[in-house]
Amino acid sequence: MDQQWDVVSGVGVTALAVAAARAVETSRPGALIEDPYALAFVEAAGAPVKMPTTQAEAAALDDQGYWSEVSTYIAVRTRAFDDYFRRAAEAGVTQAVLLASGLDARAFRLPWPEGAVIHEIDQPLVLDFKLRVLREHGAIAGGVHRPVGADLREDWPAALEAAGFDRARPTAWLAEGLLPYLPPEAEERLFQDIHQLSAPGSRLAVEIIGNMSGALTDTSVGDSVRTLGVNVLDLIHTEQRPAPADHLTGLGWSARSVAATEAAAGYGRPLSPSLAARDAHYVFAHRP
Ligand SMILES: C[S@@+](CC[C@H](N)C(=O)[O-])C[C@H]1O[C@@H](n2cnc3c(N)ncnc32)[C@H](O)[C@@H]1O
Repeated sequence: MDQQWDVVSGVGVTALAVAAARAVETSRPGALIEDPYALAFVEAAGAPVKMPTTQAEAAALDDQGYWSEVSTYIAVRTRAFDDYFRRAAEAGVTQAVLLASGLDARAFRLPWPEGAVIHEIDQPLVLDFKLRVLREHGAIAGGVHRPVGADLREDWPAALEAAGFDRARPTAWLAEGLLPYLPPEAEERLFQDIHQLSAPGSRLAVEIIGNMSGALTDTSVGDSVRTLGVNVLDLIHTEQRPAPADHLTGLGWSARSVAATEAAAGYGRPLSPSLAARDAHYVFAHRP
């Protein structure tokens, strides 16, 4: 993997694809989420491969239904973690850290509680692009917004604390669309670091894709090159690793897992059999 990337290179392209999916969902009647900045990110990025921003564009670009599927899954995932942050705010947690935040605009679109501080960690070029576009659109964060340019395989806790993160304060952490891109040893360290930095009362939400081999078929590699301009095989780590929920319970956290299919059904947007076969689930953990 490159050491540095932006939103049109390396794994950064995946952040743009997720923004495209959120733009498509936002354009849909009865959308599960509303992301007013997703369209602006896709338009400003000038990606070499065309990405859709509306349902009609998704349908026009789709030969195998790729974008319709991706936008449904991303809508469910985004909504599930929006709801997680709402619950954390209701419980009085006002410090947040979004790991691998990409083009996530939650800091600017969710109703944050009084005194909220929202940290976002991703590569510097990804965050620079995001902030430039948000500024151009007059976006205002719902709390103190602290972008932290760092590599999550390196000493990101030092960068986070240098930016003002307070380890004495309970934190709501999010790892969404991240774990497949980390080698197992970096994932292991990530959970240890989160644990070290978490005051009692902290929470963590993690997206897990149970069946990564589903993403490694010849067809989906071909799909990814055609639709994103990158080969997912070059980005993903598939080595066996401990289940995050086990890891967290071993550290004294309580954890529950919600299948993406269950979350989707609850939101009235059932997943197709091919999406369900990816066996995604969301772990919600709490440090007593
Ligand atoms: C699929 S995107 C998800 C972005 C965001 N969480 C969302 O759901 O919209 C993956 C993100 O992980 C970031 N990423 C991957 N590996 C990283 C690393 N080692 N350090 C920092 N960021 C990383 C990429 O830059 C990209 O923004």
